[in-house]
Amino acid sequence: CLMFAVQLDGSVVETIEGATEARRVEALQIEFVERNALQCGFCTPGFLMLATAFLRDHPSPSDEEIREAMASNLCRCTGYQNILRAVRRAADAVADPAAEP
Ligand code: FES
Repeated sequence: CLMFAVQLDGSVVETIEGATEARRVEALQIEFVERNALQCGFCTPGFLMLATAFLRDHPSPSDEEIREAMASNLCRCTGYQNILRAVRRAADAVADPAAEP
């Protein structure tokens, strides 16, 4: 949402289809569905990729860190609360797969 495609010239661009961090992406996809973190779905691939990269760099984030990281992606439908809950739950699930949702 924040860059023109030409600004990525020479960069590596990852997409949801090519995501290599299957466990983290799957946890996020499950939580987005279970927490009703999407409506039209237009923003969802961007949120999933943003959250995947964020959780790679911040495996045990605080709620405030999640809120700050997700602020760079726009959603016109959900009001963000369920997106933040989904990322929180996915972070917890990846950190402790035995934990109850
Ligand atoms: Fe519609 Fe986010 S779910 S823009």
